[in-house]
Amino acid sequence: MIAARNGRAGGARLAALGAYVPERVVTNADLERQVDTTDEWIVTRTGIRERRYASADQATSDLAVLAAGDVLRNSRMDPADVDVVIVPTCTPDHLFPSVAAMTAHRVGAVNAAAFDLQAACSGFIYGLAQATALVESGIARNVLVVGAEVFSKIVDMEDRSTCILFGDAAAGALVTAGEPECPGGFLGFELGADGSQAMDLCIPVGGTRRPASQPFAREEAFVQMNGREVYKFATRVMEESVVRLLDRLEVGIGDVDLLVAHQANLRIIDHAVKRLGIDGSRVFNNLERYGNTSAASIPLALTEARDAGVLNPGALVLLVGFGAGLTWASCLVRYEPE
Ligand code: COA
Repeated sequence: MIAARNGRAGGARLAALGAYVPERVVTNADLERQVDTTDEWIVTRTGIRERRYASADQATSDLAVLAAGDVLRNSRMDPADVDVVIVPTCTPDHLFPSVAAMTAHRVGAVNAAAFDLQAACSGFIYGLAQATALVESGIARNVLVVGAEVFSKIVDMEDRSTCILFGDAAAGALVTAGEPECPGGFLGFELGADGSQAMDLCIPVGGTRRPASQPFAREEAFVQMNGREVYKFATRVMEESVVRLLDRLEVGIGDVDLLVAHQANLRIIDHAVKRLGIDGSRVFNNLERYGNTSAASIPLALTEARDAGVLNPGALVLLVGFGAGLTWASCLVRYEPE
């Protein structure tokens, strides 16, 4: 149930973080035994050394429930006080119902509205924007945003150009209302989409354009990617989006305490870091151990940055991502845990 609009809403705060990763570790050496690739190729082209895979009986909602539980424990919030559960995901258990509704039920968020959000790897930042809007409009006080993905079940384990990139994880944040009339922690968002390149990163079969009930080639049920085009898009939009956001907010890159970018490819992140001129010591990456976990990648990195003592209360944090759609998103937020 969503609270009635009160018209005096306080600003939204990033109040807590949490994550879950499956136990099974799949190294580059494991993939060498499966496709024609090498650890050296994967590390030099992407920076990834290993990733996690869900077990055969784990679906996306199973990961989302464990990550949501971690966020709730860290915030010491009663699940019954959560007003909305948003699950950014592009690997839902089913086309419908939503992962969010199942997650809300299983964590005891019995008073929450729930919906999934499909902006692929940009989904977590899109979800934070939704949460901020819900809180600052007075529609909700407590919003749980949990990015959750099981890519290991939608990549073609015979396609070396995609299977090496992705991993499974869930991670998220609690966005809460601050004191009435007080400014919030979210300083601004810059979100975008360019559907002209939609088919550069897609799963052709399984939706209403190409139903799985019609004949199709095996590989069409898996992720298809034009890697070079996505690479060019990513390096362009990450820089452009951050520059637009910081210019609008009149914040210099030197004021940013921590940059957490979508963990897709170290070369893409390094390119953005160089172009933006941010000091490398202010950048946190963990893709080496998880690969690209899509909507879970940014909150997973934030959670680990917190645990590593790199993300501290009061820090000004810049988030930026890109993904299928094609979409992009950036956000500037002051981290204010409870
Ligand atoms: N192991 C060994 N060789 C591989 C390989 C693998 N896993 N995958 C591809 N190759 C080969 C290609 O077949 C190609 O061979 P060829 O020159 O004989 O045709 C060669 O390596 C170079 O391929 P190319 O696609 O040009 O490599 P690249 O330097 O662009 O790197 C990606 C490929 C996928 C790492 C890179 O394009 C990328 O990161 N793109 C963005 C992907 C992304 O982030 N997607 C998620 C978005 S959220």
